[in-house]
Amino acid sequence: MAGRFITAEGSEGAGKTTQLAFMRDFLERQGYPVTLTREPGGTGLGEELRSLLLAHRDDGMALTTETLLMFAARAEHLDRVIRPALEEGHWVLCDRFTDTTYAYQGGGRGLPIAQIAILENWVQGDLRPDLTLLLDLPVAVGLARAGKRGMADRFERETVEFFERVRTVYLGRAGQAPERYRIVDAAQPIETVRVQVESLLTQWLERD
Ligand code: TMP
Repeated sequence: MAGRFITAEGSEGAGKTTQLAFMRDFLERQGYPVTLTREPGGTGLGEELRSLLLAHRDDGMALTTETLLMFAARAEHLDRVIRPALEEGHWVLCDRFTDTTYAYQGGGRGLPIAQIAILENWVQGDLRPDLTLLLDLPVAVGLARAGKRGMADRFERETVEFFERVRTVYLGRAGQAPERYRIVDAAQPIETVRVQVESLLTQWLERD
């Protein structure tokens, strides 16, 4: 039986990584085999591309280059990790996926959505997440949390306005496809978010 493809999305400091670890434990306790992975990354080459993408560069990076590198890492990830795991019946939990490209490169940086859609269709074919959890929180709260984690990467250095645009795109996409997205208020304490995520997952499993 094919597995399920679940992605977690959100702006900086939303707590995706923490909640994904809880979700893995929750699903494994119910007997589901889980593959937990992330973007950009998840493969050897993908992690190398991640380092290039996140490192601060004095000369910056062209938006087309940034977007193509995100999709290059994604192609590798799909080919080597995501599709094989789904075919084996694993539940793939992915920390960010193409919704991030729409939010960051599209919303944040202003890349036309149609160009992202072309790459999405090329690289993914008809594969889309079965469920996307959007951990939403006010930009200022997220940035304050992310700021406590040490050295800011190339994206974390962006402006508040950039992250407001990111958030707007996320919420807009979630509003347009409510069957795929579940929005969680990520400004709440970690434990409250965990309980809500588990309840959402339980409801989703029951309707599955
Ligand atoms: P994070 O996984 O620690 O949040 O870091 C990944 C960073 O990469 C994050 O700031 C968002 C950015 N990113 C994009 O801009 N576009 C993408 O398609 C992906 C997957 C990530």
